[in-house]
Amino acid sequence: MKHLLIVYHTKTGNTGQLAEAARRGAVSEAVTDVRLRLRTAADAGPGDLLWADGLLLGTPENVGYMSGAMKDFLDRTFYEVEGELQPLPCAIFISAGNDGSGALRALRRIIKGYPFVEVQDPLVAQGPITTAHLARCEELGQALAVGLEAGIY
Ligand SMILES: Cc1cc2nc3c(=O)[nH]c(=O)nc-3n(C[C@H](O)[C@H](O)[C@H](O)COP(=O)(O)O)c2cc1C
Repeated sequence: MKHLLIVYHTKTGNTGQLAEAARRGAVSEAVTDVRLRLRTAADAGPGDLLWADGLLLGTPENVGYMSGAMKDFLDRTFYEVEGELQPLPCAIFISAGNDGSGALRALRRIIKGYPFVEVQDPLVAQGPITTAHLARCEELGQALAVGLEAGIY
């Protein structure tokens, strides 16, 4: 049984919609042997990372960066898991008013240090959340779960 962790922050609900879509994908019929844990960045801790075989990280872009809550999650866990993690397969989703590149750049820079390894292209949802964003995030959740289950990651 593989373990997939989704950690996200949302203030006004948009990244939350993406996280829920990723969760739907990860528990879809195509996936039988993966246990899922969905945590807000505020609630997640080092124990969740040590539990996980794969990871989805979701954040809004706030002032050109990841949200403070996501940064806090990473700050609170970095040394606690140092040396304890195999490189963790990971994918990123971002909700942004208009851009998202600053949040993506910042996250990518930090996750290299853990190390988390991006195994899927990120989803950057620009503007209001659309059904296409949700479908893509559902695919992302499913792809991570299926890939873990199949031993591809
Ligand atoms: C304090 C704050 C700063 C923001 N800064 C940016 C930004 O730099 N670039 C951007 O594209 N959107 C920015 N936004 C817009 C949010 O990224 C966007 O509304 C996003 O969908 C919010 O996600 P959430 O509903 O999950 O909180 C900002 C929003 C807030 C509240």
